[in-house]
Amino acid sequence: MAETVLVERKGRVATLRINRPEALNALNSAVLAEMLEKAAALDADREIGCLIVTGSEKAFAAGADIKEMNEKSNMDMFYDDFFAGWDGFAKLRTPKIAAVAGYALGGGCELAMMCDFIIAADSAKFGQPEIKLGVIPGMGGSQRLARSIGKAKAMDMVLTGRMMDAAEAERCGLVSRIVAADALMDEAMKAAEIIAGYSKPSTMVAKEAVDRAFETSLAEGLHYERRVFFGLFATHDQKEGMSAFAEKRKPDFRHE
Ligand code: CAA
Repeated sequence: MAETVLVERKGRVATLRINRPEALNALNSAVLAEMLEKAAALDADREIGCLIVTGSEKAFAAGADIKEMNEKSNMDMFYDDFFAGWDGFAKLRTPKIAAVAGYALGGGCELAMMCDFIIAADSAKFGQPEIKLGVIPGMGGSQRLARSIGKAKAMDMVLTGRMMDAAEAERCGLVSRIVAADALMDEAMKAAEIIAGYSKPSTMVAKEAVDRAFETSLAEGLHYERRVFFGLFATHDQKEGMSAFAEKRKPDFRHE
């Protein structure tokens, strides 16, 4: 059977490409299983400093696989805890960038939001169209979209099921930058190589600290940040980074 997630490694960056062109990269159980297995292995690899998650020019992913879900009963969904497996992807500790071209709908938009940030091609289209199917987002859309773009826009998207283009997505803060479609992978790779070039423990805790802002009070978050900041002084790379600055040379990070 064809692989539904293709992996390519370049130096310290690994790209995970969803590969179901016949279904606009709809996320079925095979994609989930392969994504989890491959991403978890890369996450555990100290030689990998950043992940890129992407799809095709036409679709990042057009959602969860509707045909796979269609016949399921409430009890099937309940006992399988359908979609819960994706939490494992969201929790990966290596920084991950979503490089989105074309459709990022339903579970596709939700998968992109599980990444640390989204770089969008000018062709990207985001949406949570589940309402048109008689359901609602099930992979985090109602929660992550609201936190990402605020109540007004999130309600608009979730209740009308409309799509937003890349420009609107950038205006409302869903994506960090827009690039020409043919430059998408180069730009994502450049950003990933920058991140992967830093000390991995510091990028891992940097993203943990930002994520903490969405889980806790400001006082607790500030306390957490300071504790983690102090913790980095136990690394080789903190000494190396600061010494290199003082000695006007490039740091030689060992990722420890
Ligand atoms: N699940 C299963 N198959 C899908 C799919 C999906 N989410 N999206 C597209 N496909 C399939 C189509 O059925 C079609 O297959 P066939 O050729 O075998 O008929 C193929 O991909 C190409 O799709 P279209 O012919 O529809 O392509 P288009 O260019 O005319 O339209 C589109 C593109 C507007 C994205 C349209 O495909 C569409 O609306 N897709 C569904 C989007 C959607 O509702 N996503 C939410 C899914 S539910 C969900 O994600 C729940 C959750 O919160 C996790």
